[in-house]
Amino acid sequence: MSDEPEVELEARLAEQESFDPPSSFTDQANVTDADVRESFAEEWPECWEAAADLLTWDEPYATVLDDSNPPFYEWFTGGSLNASANCLDRHVENGSKNRAAIKWEGEPGETRTYTYGDLLNEVEAFAAALRDLGVEEDDVVTLYLPMIPELPIAMLACARIGAPHSVVFAGFSADALATRMNAAESEYLVTCDGYYRRGDALNHKEKADKGLRGVDHDVETVVVDRLGDELKHFLGASAHDYGDLVDEHAGASVEPVSRDAEDMLFLMYTSGTTGEPKGVKHTTGGYLAYTAWTSRAVLDVKPEDTYWCAADIGWITGHSYIVYGPLALGTTTMMYEGTPDYPERDRLWELVETNDVDVFYTAPTAIRAFMKWGSEYPERRDLSSLRLLGTVGEPINPRAWKWYYKHIGDEGCPIVDTWWQTETGGMMVTTLPGIDTMKPGSAGPPLPGIDATVVDTDGEPVEPGNAGYLTVQQPWPGMLRTLYNNDERFIDEYWREYSDTDSDDPEDWVYFPEDGAKLDDDGYITVLGRVDDVINVSGHRLGTMEIESAIVGVSGVAEAAVVGGTHDVKGEAVYAYVILEDGQEASDAMYDRVVEGVEGAIGPIARPEEVIFTPELPKTRSGKIMRRLLEDVASGDELGDTSTLRNPAVVEEIQSRVSEE
Ligand code: WT7
Repeated sequence: MSDEPEVELEARLAEQESFDPPSSFTDQANVTDADVRESFAEEWPECWEAAADLLTWDEPYATVLDDSNPPFYEWFTGGSLNASANCLDRHVENGSKNRAAIKWEGEPGETRTYTYGDLLNEVEAFAAALRDLGVEEDDVVTLYLPMIPELPIAMLACARIGAPHSVVFAGFSADALATRMNAAESEYLVTCDGYYRRGDALNHKEKADKGLRGVDHDVETVVVDRLGDELKHFLGASAHDYGDLVDEHAGASVEPVSRDAEDMLFLMYTSGTTGEPKGVKHTTGGYLAYTAWTSRAVLDVKPEDTYWCAADIGWITGHSYIVYGPLALGTTTMMYEGTPDYPERDRLWELVETNDVDVFYTAPTAIRAFMKWGSEYPERRDLSSLRLLGTVGEPINPRAWKWYYKHIGDEGCPIVDTWWQTETGGMMVTTLPGIDTMKPGSAGPPLPGIDATVVDTDGEPVEPGNAGYLTVQQPWPGMLRTLYNNDERFIDEYWREYSDTDSDDPEDWVYFPEDGAKLDDDGYITVLGRVDDVINVSGHRLGTMEIESAIVGVSGVAEAAVVGGTHDVKGEAVYAYVILEDGQEASDAMYDRVVEGVEGAIGPIARPEEVIFTPELPKTRSGKIMRRLLEDVASGDELGDTSTLRNPAVVEEIQSRVSEE
């Protein structure tokens, strides 16, 4: 800490609008060439060979980009490789066998370290077991696991035998699991008995079993025994114990299957505007090259580092930046099972201190919570091992950015504010920490080789200083290839808005991520948030339609409208406006049933902050629900124009009900 008095320092930070990375960082950064954006642009798409070169290929690729059939782009065509061999075998062979690959800490405090050698052994044993159970190349294996090492092990075992995985976030409900398994026609499930949350042993298997009852086909199940005697469980006829399987196949050697660069590596279901989740398909070569390249260039990951992305592997952030990117680079990646405030609010900082974490990557919602808890918690710990900080998931306001910079980074660590999404596979807009000036609140310029452009409603680039819609005008290696079994929806959701969909010229195809953004005067991009009916609760993407259909499924409910209202920690929170059927009473019991309906269909993350029973919803004369107005009411903001409403009186009624709560 510097000697500057606290008050003066706060005042100086509050006013400072830009920050340069310190030379202690830039002197050692992986990427320091200030012309890297120009050189990528000049050599596009061949520039992406730099990413492919980070991998070991079984067969070299013939073409960097095949753009002959937009928007179905193919990268590194003709090449073949295996993701698990790239994340494990080559490091074991190159002398890093004894380096820690995964350092895991359970919530109760027990630790496990897997060296690259250990990890390869267990991945091979489990890969052999999966094969024995009948898993063949291209069979989708569903992984419904919390933050335990068996999750990345199962992912890599699937990758080894060419079976795409579909990880379902452990916090999702039984119904959500069933929907995803049915959509992917997945006949294999790896799950566990339970896990720890705030000191309690949670029963996870009960949820998995309930989910399985909703699956239309037979499923072979593997159950990891996480809790031992803490929670006894029984295995049915088609269920196998993970530990037994791994023991049985201990020492097995399983040749990594050589996969075509464009073969599917995994599916990840994410929320969209309609009720049905979208199966985002990522492939082997482009995705792995892209996550390795961005981990190296943006997160500055080095093999000697202890690197920690404090996300859940059940989301894309964990896939790309806990598992694939860092392991492809041969570094040590950390995993923590529990919550940041258990047993105390300094838990994450304790982990940084005891593991000498070099690079730390988290979400604004977590930073806002740390800020609320106060600086005394990080101050209890020695955080001087940190070199770089990152944030992802939602816009970060300058105040939270500065708090993070000061209280976690001690003003000595650059911060990368990385904009990307499930569909992009990896980071797209962010500063490069070894080169760029940082501006709190603004993600930064597009990454080298990425043509992210803010456009107006006609698709024309906006002038600096103006807001519009974020688009990506050229393909990139980490992009989704399609929505599983639904090419048409893929085009409708991401391309139709700004492309000439009859054209086969790639220049006419523009990717639309459904975010609003402002182009700053200096060319930096400030991301404003979703412009579709998707809300972002604690960095998790939720579709309002999904929540609405869960509520309408509750007996006694006639109609529902769900919107996001601002929330000081979660960013956005779920507000549900509910109309009951005639004769139904807006009772506490009904309130609870609505909440249970949402938790049952999606999971506790979608739990409404407030359920507002109302006799009517504000509608336009053409009968459209005025969502913007409902958002304003939820956020306690001044209301926009209500003159176009068919039923303006209802607004006051709703407002009075919200403030009653
Ligand atoms: C949406 C994607 C990327 C992994 C986590 C979320 C929002 C993401 C930022 C950022 C402003 C951001 C966008 C995006 N978002 N990062 N740095 N600044 N907004 O993945 O669930 O696919 O959600 O998160 O709205 O579209 P996801």
